[in-house]
Amino acid sequence: MFPYAVDLENISFSYGNHMVLNNLSLRAKPGEHIGIVGDSGCGKSTLLKILAGLYAPDQGPAIIAGEHILEKIRKQVSLVMQNNSLFPLSIRDNITCGHPISDETVWKACQNASLTEWIKDLPNGLDTNVGERGNQVSGGQAQRIQIARALCKDAPVILLDEPISALDQDTGHSVLDALRKLTGGKTVIHVTHHQETLDDSYTIYRMEGGRIIRVCS
Ligand SMILES: Nc1ncnc2c1ncn2[C@@H]1O[C@H](COP(=O)(O)OP(=O)(O)O)[C@@H](O)[C@H]1O
Ligand SMILES: [Mg+2]
Repeated sequence: MFPYAVDLENISFSYGNHMVLNNLSLRAKPGEHIGIVGDSGCGKSTLLKILAGLYAPDQGPAIIAGEHILEKIRKQVSLVMQNNSLFPLSIRDNITCGHPISDETVWKACQNASLTEWIKDLPNGLDTNVGERGNQVSGGQAQRIQIARALCKDAPVILLDEPISALDQDTGHSVLDALRKLTGGKTVIHVTHHQETLDDSYTIYRMEGGRIIRVCS
């Protein structure tokens, strides 16, 4: 076993000559819940993309669940982004991502993501197409489809990028309920503008000037 589920040591990352992460270090033990706040444009989504194995740092090691090779990191994490990040495919394909996952598992994930009633009422059920960028489903439904996908993947590290920021309050609550089922027992890095939605299990960090610092509570 590895001591840290997330282990970034003095990493740096630039887009061209625009440095976004500058000697940033972050560690999370398995099962630890970390909340990240910070101004728009400070690099929170970039950090999550590195944690998700989508980008490699220019400098410094990024070791996620003991892996440092991007393809292997991707198998260890689930990333739930802001809405409008679905594929223009069926609900089923958006949840399984083409992996051979049984209908039983898909429906169980839908149940935990509070999607079942809605999907059962659709004429085409799980085969309903979500449209370009998910424009045939509501923001809350799109978020819960992403959560159902993450529940099926059952990765040890969950990355959340402002998952409720674009939702109205009622929808936000149902998504938060689904998120709680997803994050229990997992290592979680949750970027949010709504710190009040994070429970006591979270340690809060602030991103600023390309680095991340723990916020004393
Ligand atoms: N693909 C990209 N190419 C060039 N610059 C980018 C790209 N993505 C983000 N940026 C820039 O990097 C900085 C950090 O962006 P981002 O990580 O999205 O911040 P946050 O999520 O905190 O709002 C911003 O100045 C943004 O404009
Ligand atoms: Mg962002």
